[in-house]
Amino acid sequence: MQDKQTRIESVLEQLLPRKDSQRSQLHAAIRYSSLDGGKRVRPLLVYATGKALNIAVENLDIIAAAIEMIHVYSLIHDDLPAMDDDDLRRGKATNHKAFDEATAILAGDALQAMAFNLLASSKKMTLSADIRLRLISELSSAAGSLGMVGGQAIDLASVNQSLTLEQLEQMHHAKTGALICASVLMPAYCDPSLSEQKIVQLTQFANCIGLAFQVQDDILDIESDTETLGKTQGSDLAANKPTYPSIIGLKASKQKLQDLYQTAMHSLDEFGDSAQSLKQLARFIVKRRK
Ligand code: IPE
Ligand code: IPE
Ligand code: MG
Ligand code: MG
Ligand code: MG
Repeated sequence: MQDKQTRIESVLEQLLPRKDSQRSQLHAAIRYSSLDGGKRVRPLLVYATGKALNIAVENLDIIAAAIEMIHVYSLIHDDLPAMDDDDLRRGKATNHKAFDEATAILAGDALQAMAFNLLASSKKMTLSADIRLRLISELSSAAGSLGMVGGQAIDLASVNQSLTLEQLEQMHHAKTGALICASVLMPAYCDPSLSEQKIVQLTQFANCIGLAFQVQDDILDIESDTETLGKTQGSDLAANKPTYPSIIGLKASKQKLQDLYQTAMHSLDEFGDSAQSLKQLARFIVKRRK
């Protein structure tokens, strides 16, 4: 995992815009939030799925970078005063605190555009135009109003409301699950000969760990501490957000996490040893402390 974390850091370092006299604030803000921080779970999923399916690593680099850019943009905007209004992210001041709100909004906007530009035009990719189009289609759906952005809208509209378990699950699938699912499906789409059955199995794996990821994020908001998390502990409670623990309690949330983990692992049965890294990541997701 550490190898791949180092790899995505250097890929991003090279792809992100550099110092530029007219846009120095904007480019500094983009680099500030994208580099030197985060667990890089989505890139790790891209590399692990690519390893299971034998996909060329040059193509995985660009897919991993594009997804991480969308993720970083979502974090910058998630922290804004109009959204979760948080001061700390990845152990440092949030983007709008280190720079200003307008710069944070624009840095997020630019990262989003850059992600799609990379998939469309990166010369480091060796994929056909058809496959690139499929990747762009998958990432834009996952990021859009039926995916991450839609989930964020439900999240914000749900403050001080009581959601049913089904509504909560739908919100989690959209705001977090969609991008995690794309991290598994995009490398799979690089091999057009992959069987429909394997796509179904990978989708089931990704849906389970996507939901598990947010359930654990909700648990950690209660059980971890600010220093370990690198973001303010208790933020959900303070904002009266509906979360798994707030609706079904901590004990049932932990049981849900275990059930999702077991189903995720079983979905990979047919992949045998090639899925070792994916299984390792699933374990990391449910056991992590930040
Ligand atoms: C935080 O994501 C936001 C959620 C979707 C829960 P991560 O926990 O992956 O954040 P980083 O990238 O490691 O900072
Ligand atoms: C954020 O969910 C999901 C995103 C799409 C960014 P949270 O609001 O729970 O994420 P954190 O806890 O601030 O990282
Ligand atoms: Mg939020
Ligand atoms: Mg938040
Ligand atoms: Mg959270």
